[in-house]
Amino acid sequence: MDLTVAADRAALDKARDELGPGRIALVPTMGALHEGHRSLLRLAREHADHVVVSVFVNPLQFGPNEDFSRYPRTFDADLRVCEEEGVAVVFAPSAEDMYLPDRQVQVSAGGMGGVVEGAFRPGHFDGVLTVVLKLFNLVRPDVAVFGQKDAQQLALIRRMVADLDVPVSIVGAPTVREPDGLALSSRNRYLSEADRRTALALSRALRAGAARAGAARAEIAGPAGILDAARAVLEEAARFDPPLLLDYLILADPATFAPVADDHRGEAILAVAAKVGTTRLIDNMVLTL
Ligand code: PAJ
Repeated sequence: MDLTVAADRAALDKARDELGPGRIALVPTMGALHEGHRSLLRLAREHADHVVVSVFVNPLQFGPNEDFSRYPRTFDADLRVCEEEGVAVVFAPSAEDMYLPDRQVQVSAGGMGGVVEGAFRPGHFDGVLTVVLKLFNLVRPDVAVFGQKDAQQLALIRRMVADLDVPVSIVGAPTVREPDGLALSSRNRYLSEADRRTALALSRALRAGAARAGAARAEIAGPAGILDAARAVLEEAARFDPPLLLDYLILADPATFAPVADDHRGEAILAVAAKVGTTRLIDNMVLTL
């Protein structure tokens, strides 16, 4: 089956009608596709007969001082990736096609949208949930795949689907990393060689936290010890050139993103965000306490 590119909602409707019977998986993206996205496309194929990919740099989820205008746009290369991975439809609407000029209503991510990543990016998760719900309504997939790389986004999408009874199954996909540990991100292409060396401290800090959690499981690891181990790596990187500028380091409850209590047992997400040069990076690891 050939790849169909749908540039607006009418073309999407037509392409969707032509898919024939079978389950549909949606993989929402902002393009600039890399191996992380590719792993989502493969997972989507395992869960459905037809894969639809959306490529849309969603203005609603960028703050006024964020990188919307310079966000990488590599549409032709993205189409080749989708073709190689057996994608049936690429939905790539314009902002004008997605949003009515007089739009009023949007999804609120609630309190959980205002903590951790949301505390540094006001309105970001409202913008994410609004576009994701619109994509669900336009594509009407049976299943949708999202990366654990954006752990709070994934948790909020699960929350939205549960709270609003959205008829779609959500599948989470593990984070794909470079051999040196750096989590793949469309924003990595902003990094200079020196930036990249500093950026490696994010995944190194998470591994240090994970090692502490593993080593101390028999004794008392405790969130404080895990955070200390990770923080030591980040503090060292604060003295690099360029320095790592920490936004947050948190050990969070995977469902609520509240900080875990000292006696927390079970899964917890060690999440970090930092600026390196002009680039803001996030990463996380799921630990078992
Ligand atoms: P984008 O950053 O393009 O990411 C699209 C999907 O790819 C997300 O589900 C993200 O978690 C996943 N992803 C990114 N890097 C990954 C990695 N290294 N390993 C595994 N998965 C990875 O996230 C968005 O776009 C937007 O917020 C979107 C959901 C499309 C709404 O606009």
